[in-house]
Amino acid sequence: MSPNRWPATPVDVSPLNQPLVLYPSGRVVKNRLVKSAMTEGLATWTVKDIAGRGIPTKEIIELHRRWGEGKNTFGIIATGNIDLEYDQVDSVGDMIITLQDSFTGSRFERFKELAIAGKANGALVIGQLAHPGSQLFAHVRQDAISPSGIQLPPSKGLLGEFYAKPRAATQEDIDHVVASFVHGAEYLYAAGFDGMQLNAAHGYLLAQFLSQRMNKRTDSYGGTISNRMQIIIDIAKGVRSNTAIPKDFILSIKLNSVEFQEGGLTPEEAREMCAILDGDNVGLDYIELSGGNWHDLGMHWERESSRKREAFFLEFVDRIGPALGPVPRQTKVFVTGGLRSAAAMVRAMDVVDGIGIGRPAAQEPIFANDLFSGRILSAIKPVKMLEDIGMGFRLAGTQMGQIGRGEDPLDASDDKTAREFLLDQEIWYSEMLSDADKLTGHGNVSLSTPQRPYGQVDW
Ligand SMILES: Cc1cc2nc3c(=O)[nH]c(=O)nc-3n(C[C@H](O)[C@H](O)[C@H](O)COP(=O)(O)O)c2cc1C
Repeated sequence: MSPNRWPATPVDVSPLNQPLVLYPSGRVVKNRLVKSAMTEGLATWTVKDIAGRGIPTKEIIELHRRWGEGKNTFGIIATGNIDLEYDQVDSVGDMIITLQDSFTGSRFERFKELAIAGKANGALVIGQLAHPGSQLFAHVRQDAISPSGIQLPPSKGLLGEFYAKPRAATQEDIDHVVASFVHGAEYLYAAGFDGMQLNAAHGYLLAQFLSQRMNKRTDSYGGTISNRMQIIIDIAKGVRSNTAIPKDFILSIKLNSVEFQEGGLTPEEAREMCAILDGDNVGLDYIELSGGNWHDLGMHWERESSRKREAFFLEFVDRIGPALGPVPRQTKVFVTGGLRSAAAMVRAMDVVDGIGIGRPAAQEPIFANDLFSGRILSAIKPVKMLEDIGMGFRLAGTQMGQIGRGEDPLDASDDKTAREFLLDQEIWYSEMLSDADKLTGHGNVSLSTPQRPYGQVDW
């Protein structure tokens, strides 16, 4: 039996298979499908010697090789969060580049290998840099910085963790954060990456600065939207004015749709923000718009059908689209989240320049190749119990781990496989709970039963 897929009507996928010239880097993306950032949880992790954390492993390199496989693979492959401090991590097992890390040694060599692996068939490889700010689990470190020292309520999602107690960032903290992002960009360039992405989505530090709820500052980093964007502008200008980073290095940003909704940015602010980010102002090549907050996994679209979810994003894009200016525009716009069928992706291309793919890329590393060859019309549809985003995160993490080990990912549309996975993840969950703040247990769910990978199911 073939895996079960989201219902889909046949469509001409050629709008997704057009090259895209980025501005100002001038780089050409070979098609419009982007593998969106997904924390892999596969980098090194050490409890005491923290400088040993965050080094890319063979598994993470293999994972990027698989995403880069095939001549019609994704146009862009973005890595998951790369953190900027050894003890301020978005997730345990993230890759890390700190200001102290020089362009030699095993960390640097592994980053080089990752770039080579992902780029083998012409995909552009982008490193996503992120700072958690107050979205830092207290068992990793108890204190944190944030725009105004507002603490997050305990996570409703993964393990019910508590967040660190933040203090308001000083100018010195902000300068350090900006310098760390710029150093990260230079490091990525030197390691052979085609570009970088600022993670200003999903509730992390840069999103906290953008948010009216989290940013109550009265200095030049708070207040109006242009002030709340100042830290992003400082980083972008720092990257673009760094003479060690050539102009053809791609600079992008991921923004969260929730900031465009009620209580977040007003439509006028959204327009102003996009105008500031556009074209030559800060030298951004593309903006990726995504939905959902990391610390609030109860996104209102999570339990909706794929059709409604896709519609939600299309409607969101329709509302934001006009603020982004007419196509073709200088700074390109990609949309990510919940898009599962080629037909919906093609429709979204009326208002955006490209489509980000998250979880389907963990289920099917060759997703783009198969979509372009006409072999598939939509992504594999996980069984209902794996569909909600909390479980979907754990599933995608497990699948990325499998790919990194050279396996094909488990077929999440198969009932029996899903039930086995759920039992294993319960064991993993209780191990993680009993590990508590010891920080020794981490990583993805270990599968205890022989796998029936999706790629080998009666094809
Ligand atoms: C396991 C997992 C890890 C993720 N890690 C990141 C991350 O590191 N950075 C980021 O910007 N988004 C991250 N995301 C969000 C995805 O990039 C994407 O925005 C989200 O999954 C919605 O897209 P999808 O419906 O196609 O999965 C992650 C998502 C998943 C499932």
